[in-house]
Amino acid sequence: MKAALEWQIACGADESILDAPIDRTALPKPEEQPRQAPVLEADPDIDAVAVARNAAAAAIDLATLRAAMESYEHCDLKRGAKQLVFSDGNAGARVMIIGEAPGRDEDIEGRPFVGRAGQLLDLMFSHIGLSRTESDGKNALYIANVLPWRPPQNRDPKPEEMKMMLPFLERHVEFVDPDLIVAMGNHACLALLGQRGITRLRGKWKKALGKPTLPMFHPAYLLRTPEAKRETWADLLSLKERLGA
Ligand code: URA
Repeated sequence: MKAALEWQIACGADESILDAPIDRTALPKPEEQPRQAPVLEADPDIDAVAVARNAAAAAIDLATLRAAMESYEHCDLKRGAKQLVFSDGNAGARVMIIGEAPGRDEDIEGRPFVGRAGQLLDLMFSHIGLSRTESDGKNALYIANVLPWRPPQNRDPKPEEMKMMLPFLERHVEFVDPDLIVAMGNHACLALLGQRGITRLRGKWKKALGKPTLPMFHPAYLLRTPEAKRETWADLLSLKERLGA
């Protein structure tokens, strides 16, 4: 079995595709059995949002929040992901960036924004003197995502996934207590502001979780739409000005 698995990994079949695993060896032949129900069904008696809210409230710092998220079992994304992607950067930073969800590279490395979009993000913020590796909180960034597990095939987050992980994100922001938040892209805006339409929202300061919040284009969008970098530069300057104020 081990050799068979290693062979699959060597062939590049090293990630899960569906939300839930299927034990194909246990499936009956189609002609013998009627179609089966999905393998994983949410238990209707469990209020996943309330469980998340209680778990997040019981956390006393970032380490216990991370542990609470690690042991949260009601988000199916956890089963398809390699690991939890909690955060990166300096927890004393004045600026907290909130993205959407880990992609393939982040799922492998366990840190947010480490793929191509992350490299662009680092470059963008370096131009206004901010970095996730900076030890002085004044010039530092702290980065997290709305969802801490990679959605299969990088599909969009589902509303119920965002809803159940929101209490953890709220507590995360409470512990980091940044001066400013950057909401990266549509899904971060939806989770934090309850609004979508990043083209209209970007560059306009809002308030989320009690913090001044700047919606910006997601760097993955900028990779596909380089002409939008002009607006992003204006947004970075607006952020810099606000930090100086
Ligand atoms: N996109 C995101 O929104 N977050 C990541 O961590 C990586 C890509």
